[in-house]
Amino acid sequence: MIRFDRIWVNVQLATMVTGATDRGEIRDGALGVCDGKIAWIGPRAELPESVAAETRDGAGGWLLPGLIDCHTHLVFGGDRCGEFEERLEGVPYAEIARRGGGIRRSVEGTRAASPEQLHRSAEQRLRRLIGEGVTTVEIKSGYGLETETELRMLRAARKLGAEGFVSVVTSFLGAHAFPAGMDRDAYVDLVCGPMLDAVAAEGLADAVDAFCETIAFSPAETERVFQAARAKGLPVKLHADQISDSGAAALAARHGALSCDHVEYTGEDGVRAMAEAGSVAVLLPGAFYMLREKQKPPVELFRRHGVPMAVATDANPGSSPLLSPLLAMNMACVLFGLTPYEALLGMTAHAARALGLAADRGTLEVGKRADLSLWRIGRPAELCYWMGYGGGLLVERVIGGKPSTPARVGLV
Ligand code: NIG
Ligand code: FE
Repeated sequence: MIRFDRIWVNVQLATMVTGATDRGEIRDGALGVCDGKIAWIGPRAELPESVAAETRDGAGGWLLPGLIDCHTHLVFGGDRCGEFEERLEGVPYAEIARRGGGIRRSVEGTRAASPEQLHRSAEQRLRRLIGEGVTTVEIKSGYGLETETELRMLRAARKLGAEGFVSVVTSFLGAHAFPAGMDRDAYVDLVCGPMLDAVAAEGLADAVDAFCETIAFSPAETERVFQAARAKGLPVKLHADQISDSGAAALAARHGALSCDHVEYTGEDGVRAMAEAGSVAVLLPGAFYMLREKQKPPVELFRRHGVPMAVATDANPGSSPLLSPLLAMNMACVLFGLTPYEALLGMTAHAARALGLAADRGTLEVGKRADLSLWRIGRPAELCYWMGYGGGLLVERVIGGKPSTPARVGLV
C-alpha cells in the first residue's frame, strides 16, 4: 500500500523525459507526491493500491513539469523605453552602449533604487512569470557594477526565493559592463577579487556569468573572471557570441560552462566544444526579436552535435523586456525553427540542466521535486501556439508537491 500526500488523477502527463517513447506522454495518467517529491507516475490503470491524503482531479488537462526560466535579469531599477524609441529610429544597440547608454543606463537606475524598490519591482515582474507556470527562475546581478549594488541585487533575488512561491537561482554578473570612468583592468581586478569575495562570503551566487563581446569583456578578461569563479568552486556560464563570433562559446566550454547563452554567432567549432563539455545552448529569442537581429543561432548544428537547447525570456530592461515564457517558446519556434516539443524541453528538462539542476527537476520522474504545472490545453504544443494567453491556460502550479496559493502571487 503506497501512501501519498497528494495525487493528481484524470490528467495527461507530458513527462519531458528525453528519449522516452511518445515524447514521454502518458494519457489518462496519475501522479502521486510524497514529502515534496514525485513518488509515483504512470497510467492511472496501473496505479497500485494506494491511499492519498488529498486527490486532485485534473479534469483531463495536461500536467507538465513547472516551467524553468533559466536566464533573466529580473532585478533592476528604472526602464529603457527611451532607447527602444532610439533603436526604432535606427540607432543600433551597440552604438547606444558605446554612447554610455544601454546597460550603464540601467546601472544608474539600479544604484538609485532602495532594496525595497528593487524587491517590489522585481516581484511585480516575477508575478507575470509565475502566472505562466514558472516554478524556477534564474536571476542575475549585473546592473550594479560596484560591490554594494551587486550585493543588493542578489539579496533582492534571494528574498524573492525565500518567499517560497518560486525557486530562485542566482548568477553573479559583475562582468556585465565596465562602469563609467574606471580603468578596465582595475574593474576586472575588483570583480575577481573583493566583489566576488563578498558575493561568495554571503552565499549570494549559485554561478558566475559574464558578457563576452566586442562591446563588453574580451575573451582574456572573461577568462580571468572564470578562473576566479572556479577558484571559489562556482560554476560558470556566459553571454556568448550574441552580436559577433569571438570564440566565446568555446572559451566557456573550456571552463565546463553550464550554459552558453544567446549564441547566435557561434560557429561549428564552438558547437563542438559545447557538445564535448556538456554545455547547454540557451536560446533567447526575445533579445533577437527586440534588437531586430538577423543572425539566428545554429539550431541545426546544435541538433547534429547533440547540444541540448534551452529557451529563456532574458527578461531585462534593454534587449528583452519580455515577461512571458510562453511567448519566448512561441518565438523560439517561429523565429529560430524549434519544434514545439524542443521549445518545451527548452523550458523544462534542458533549462534544469542549464542551471545544474537536472537531477532534481525539469522532468516528471520518481524522486524528482514535485514542481508541476497543470494546463487547460488539448496538447502540449498549444503552450507554444497562443500568444498572450498563458495566464488563461494555466490551471495551477505546484511547488514541492503543494498547489501554490494563487492570491498571494497575483494569479487571481
Ligand atoms: O542578455 N547581452 C547582455 N546582457 C543582456 C542585456 C542587458 C541589457 O541590455 O540591459 C542580455 O541581452
Ligand atoms: Fe542576458
